[in-house]
Amino acid sequence: MTQKFFRQVLPFAGLLAVAAIGVGAWLYLSGSFSETSVGGIGGPFSLTNGAGQTVTDRDLRGRYLLVYFGYTFCPDVCPTTLNEVAGALDKLGPKAALLQPLFITVDPARDTAKVVGEYAAAFSPQIIGLTGTPEQIAAVARAYRVYFTANKPAKAGGDYTVDHSSILYLMDKAGRFVAPIRADQPAEQMAMEIAKHMD
Ligand code: NI
Repeated sequence: MTQKFFRQVLPFAGLLAVAAIGVGAWLYLSGSFSETSVGGIGGPFSLTNGAGQTVTDRDLRGRYLLVYFGYTFCPDVCPTTLNEVAGALDKLGPKAALLQPLFITVDPARDTAKVVGEYAAAFSPQIIGLTGTPEQIAAVARAYRVYFTANKPAKAGGDYTVDHSSILYLMDKAGRFVAPIRADQPAEQMAMEIAKHMD
């Protein structure tokens, strides 16, 4: 192993770590656990929408939820996913009215209510962007078994990235976990996968 090798490979090590965590979380969610520990994913939350209003899980009962965690500074995964979610809404037809996508930030320090609300709405006016206090975000991330960690900026006060797991969670009208939905799939496929779980 030469030094050159390490210089070329090391920058990707972080990405690989995130990918590995994503796969691990995916296996955990879609494996035998999903049938037996349905009650273990999700739960009560209290967050803030783009208009600065409090939104709780109870406010959203009666619709299926498609919950995604990310952050607005995300260079690639979050915008790609939200774009496909917006496309899936178009493909779902009448069922789209029964589906409420949520984008919950894991970077509340930068993602204020206005920032996350406008960001989510830019993909589709139907997607609700949510933020909260660091404690509220930590609690909802824990409830959904979401992994996230902020990287240190290159220089103090500089921009930073946040590693996070990338899974869509489909919840039923009563707020119960139904199934994980792959985030990295085209809108049409995503819509089909979601639709088969909806009444
Ligand atoms: Ni992201």
